[in-house]
Amino acid sequence: MTLAGKRVLLVVSGGIAAYKALELIRLLRAAGCGVTCVLSRSAAQFVTKLSLQALSESRTYDDLFSLTDESEMGHIQLSRAADLLVVAPASADLLARMAAGMADDLASTVLLATDKPVLVAPAMNVRMWQHEATVANMALLAARGVRVVGPEEGPMACNEFGPGRLAEPPAILAAIAALLVPAAGPLAGRHALVTSGPTHEPIDPVRYIANRSSGRQGHAIAAALAALGARVSLVSGPVGVPDPPGVTVIRVETAQQMLAASLAALPADIAVCAAAVADWRVASAAGRKIKKTPGAPPPALELVANPDILATLSAPGPTRPRLVVGFAAETDALAENAAAKRARKGCDWIVANDVSPATGIMGGEENSVHLITATGAEDWPRLPKSDVARRLAARIAAALA
Ligand code: CTP
Repeated sequence: MTLAGKRVLLVVSGGIAAYKALELIRLLRAAGCGVTCVLSRSAAQFVTKLSLQALSESRTYDDLFSLTDESEMGHIQLSRAADLLVVAPASADLLARMAAGMADDLASTVLLATDKPVLVAPAMNVRMWQHEATVANMALLAARGVRVVGPEEGPMACNEFGPGRLAEPPAILAAIAALLVPAAGPLAGRHALVTSGPTHEPIDPVRYIANRSSGRQGHAIAAALAALGARVSLVSGPVGVPDPPGVTVIRVETAQQMLAASLAALPADIAVCAAAVADWRVASAAGRKIKKTPGAPPPALELVANPDILATLSAPGPTRPRLVVGFAAETDALAENAAAKRARKGCDWIVANDVSPATGIMGGEENSVHLITATGAEDWPRLPKSDVARRLAARIAAALA
């Protein structure tokens, strides 16, 4: 891969993962990309200006106000001289300041002043990543067009386990390349929205209602659309599968959050709703863990309907994507139920599959689908989910050509 002639402004914010920025700089330089670094004050506790300067072979800027810096390269110019701004690692604090539009240090100032695309690679403790404030900040940033890579799941320096680890430098490099090298392919210039995975509907702080969706099919579709050149926003419920490269992933937990994130990602040319959205949520989730009382009957859960994301996206209106594709998970009368679902939801196509336990499709590696369009139905052979995704992406590209 070559990034020759491209320039990245790398903002390094504070956190134990800051050392990985050094490896990212090395990879970018090896790909021929010019790198200039901005080091936040807290990042300077983890990596030195000297190392960043040596690896990037370029001057590194930090918070210390310098008249020479301002006359040689003002912060406005600094923010615009690059083709792309990358924040790696992006701390919860810097993401919050970006969401709020603050400009109280050099890092946040260049991010506010820039007219170039911005890619963030979050890294933080799992609880901080899952906190409602961070979830809301990420949704806001994604709605403003900020691209995201990671975080990944795994053991963390703080001895906890979960999502929050900085994406590995090769994955960040791939996300940078996807943004800097103009996409080729039949879907270049198109924006696709994909929903994927299950949703989790809380009962209390420790229990939730979920389903067996793995996210494999939806994630494979996002990857296949990106491979054909589309810019892809993937709104995903909690899954264990890795982020597809070059795709902006917006992580959510509940159906209501999935709807809000999907609407925020519009406008889009294509929407593919592959998520297994929970149809119902608990009317009022308990704020504290529900305790057993000896002799008392089990608690009754009152359920209320969740919003239908596919039907909402399919409704006529100025932001309706040109092609809306839904899935139909059925255990019987597949063709009739799926055709009725297409009409009821108002989408253009339905990808129907038989999710009876004997098929092993739900949560499995393969899928056997029937594509239902306005003009009829097609039976596809049983294929790996990645092949179903490629075939569907090719059909979508043909339909939009
Ligand atoms: N879907 C959605 N929002 C919901 C429920 C479903 O966007 N609240 C979408 C799914 O992503 C899928 C399609 O609707 O693309 C059909 O999902 P499915 O579970 O098969 O259908 P339901 O609407 O739940 O209908 P039923 O459970 O009655 O079969």
